[in-house]
Amino acid sequence: MDVVDARLNRILTAAAEAPSVLNTQPWQVAVEGSTIMLRADRSRQLRHSDPHGREMFISCGAFLFNARTAARRESLTAVATVLPDPDDELLVAQVVLEPGDDPSADELELSVAIGHRVTARVPFEDEPVRTDVLVTIQRAADHEGASLRTIQPTDPARAQVLELVRRAEALAAEDMAGRDEEAAWTATVPGRDDGIPLDRLGRAPTNPGAPVRRFHESVGREPFEEGSTLAVLSTPGDSARDWVTAGQALEHALLVAAGHFVDASFATTVLENPTTRHDLRLALGLGGYPQMLLRLGKVAPPEHAPRRTLGTPVS
Ligand SMILES: Cc1cc2nc3c(=O)[nH]c(=O)nc-3n(C[C@H](O)[C@H](O)[C@H](O)COP(=O)(O)O)c2cc1C
Repeated sequence: MDVVDARLNRILTAAAEAPSVLNTQPWQVAVEGSTIMLRADRSRQLRHSDPHGREMFISCGAFLFNARTAARRESLTAVATVLPDPDDELLVAQVVLEPGDDPSADELELSVAIGHRVTARVPFEDEPVRTDVLVTIQRAADHEGASLRTIQPTDPARAQVLELVRRAEALAAEDMAGRDEEAAWTATVPGRDDGIPLDRLGRAPTNPGAPVRRFHESVGREPFEEGSTLAVLSTPGDSARDWVTAGQALEHALLVAAGHFVDASFATTVLENPTTRHDLRLALGLGGYPQMLLRLGKVAPPEHAPRRTLGTPVS
């Protein structure tokens, strides 16, 4: 493998660390010289819960953002031309890798966060994220052309949002085709490298309005916090291009959050149902279209091994 291949390999490996709906990883790449053609992979689309491919393109957008970020770590600049291409409706972007400056400290930090970010399906500390940190996360989403509307525990719209989440989850529980689709992506198959393993599904919340997805295959229940921050990512339009924007904004925001030790999980059932999605948009008075519902907070740290109390220093 020559130097260029090794760099490209590292960029594509980092890109594939992107979050994707049910870990479907619905992307495919073709490389020609220093050009990467990124396409959505329809064979990995959730035909029932994502019939238009919205979440598929969001996932591909997150892959694209990681590719751009990982390229900077290699002192390359990824020049991305995002779809549409009327002759190639699965094309997400053409990415040309060009020589660039050395990465800045911020760029390096972002690329390091790719390897730390995970979806945390566990209860968080019962506290909202600090406003100054939230502003930094919101700026990341803005930078990609999306908006992040935060919903703190005191927000008057919060109760309505939680009620919509509850309603969407209750409707999804009765949707047998949706349950079959989810079961297919959460089944444990030895050697499998996609889907969500059963032991990563987390436990179901005992509190009915908790903003987390109720996976039908998850085992056990536990109380979730009530006081973390919620956030809705929205885009000005609702086309495939907007969905790719949403994916890039999502990953940029998540990597900045990870850099501040802020964890995230998602509750997107409410956006897969067109009625609850519409009602959520109204409840928040959003000008744009909601694409992701996030829960942001901190996972309670595990207990440390005990430490001695320091006595008076000996001079
Ligand atoms: C469009 C989209 C929707 C998602 N919806 C949910 C969700 O409702 N609940 C959830 O727990 N995770 C959700 N996820 C997170 C994925 O399940 C997760 O990214 C994937 O399993 C890979 O795991 P990782 O994020 O820990 O790398 C979503 C991710 C994307 C991109």
